[in-house]
Amino acid sequence: MNNADNMAYHIPVMVREVIELLMIKPDGIYIDCTLGEGGHTLEILRRGGNVLGIDVDENTIKRAKERIKTEGLGEKFTFLKGNFRDLNQLAQQVGISQADGILYDLGYSSYQLGVEELGISFLQDQALDMRLDKSLGVTAADLVNALGEKELARIFYEFSDEKYSKRFAKAIVQHRNLKKFQTTTELSDLIASVAPLNYEHGRIHPATRVFQALRIAVNSEIDNLRESLPRAEKLLLPGGRMAVISFHSLEDKTVKDFGRSARPNLNLVTEKPLVPSQSETEENIRSRSAKLRVFEKVSNV
Ligand SMILES: C[S@@+](CC[C@H](N)C(=O)[O-])C[C@H]1O[C@@H](n2cnc3c(N)ncnc32)[C@H](O)[C@@H]1O
Repeated sequence: MNNADNMAYHIPVMVREVIELLMIKPDGIYIDCTLGEGGHTLEILRRGGNVLGIDVDENTIKRAKERIKTEGLGEKFTFLKGNFRDLNQLAQQVGISQADGILYDLGYSSYQLGVEELGISFLQDQALDMRLDKSLGVTAADLVNALGEKELARIFYEFSDEKYSKRFAKAIVQHRNLKKFQTTTELSDLIASVAPLNYEHGRIHPATRVFQALRIAVNSEIDNLRESLPRAEKLLLPGGRMAVISFHSLEDKTVKDFGRSARPNLNLVTEKPLVPSQSETEENIRSRSAKLRVFEKVSNV
């Protein structure tokens, strides 16, 4: 049993805004592409909607299922383990050809952050893995132990805007020539030892961006999103809406670019991305970087 099994459930981000803007109707058909621990899904089910929940992480699905069953809301809930990149096939598998609403709440849950086997937290000593989906072949340790210095620097810069990407990539290559990386702590300690003393004015740990970039690379997060969003648009009924919560600039840019390219089939519901209220960010620190964009399907052209 994992320590994380007893953890409190992930607090859903901007749940009031999502529910309001998706205009949940009783008996409507909704797809939660990032089921996680079912925080958003539960709110849709409570309003009488039918939900297909998708997640790449089997353990997370298990927790969501139990939670939904305990609340007596299992009747209108279906789930599938899969990648939202394959949204069409997944929807087809359960006979969904059109949906009233589709949600993406990107990234990982607080539960996953604590799960040892995932190795996405630099705050705990874990195997340097980072695969949310254990059927993927390449771990974060594989990347830092094998990629060239230039490629590592590119990943840190492109996926996380890391200012010291070259410095960190160089240090990683020097270190691994002596000893290969195996754990999160080995990597975060190395990054901390070569980062400038006043890194980001002490606001974040120097390894934050490197870890984020590796997680994005290992899980192909941006490619998955880029491929999935147009598929979601095709599944929407006229008047149906899709909501996307992103947590870093590259994700948000991907969503914004998609919104532009999907005109005139999709209208912007949110001219500018919505951000959480002050009270939400005070209560749930993880919500601080969230941005919510909502689109509405105009027609089937
Ligand atoms: C922020 S959590 C969702 C939390 C959920 N809304 C809740 O309130 O409990 C993001 C979830 O998306 C899943 N995920 C990330 N990328 C995915 C992908 N490409 N396909 C399916 N699920 C994915 C993660 O495993 C994680 O459980």
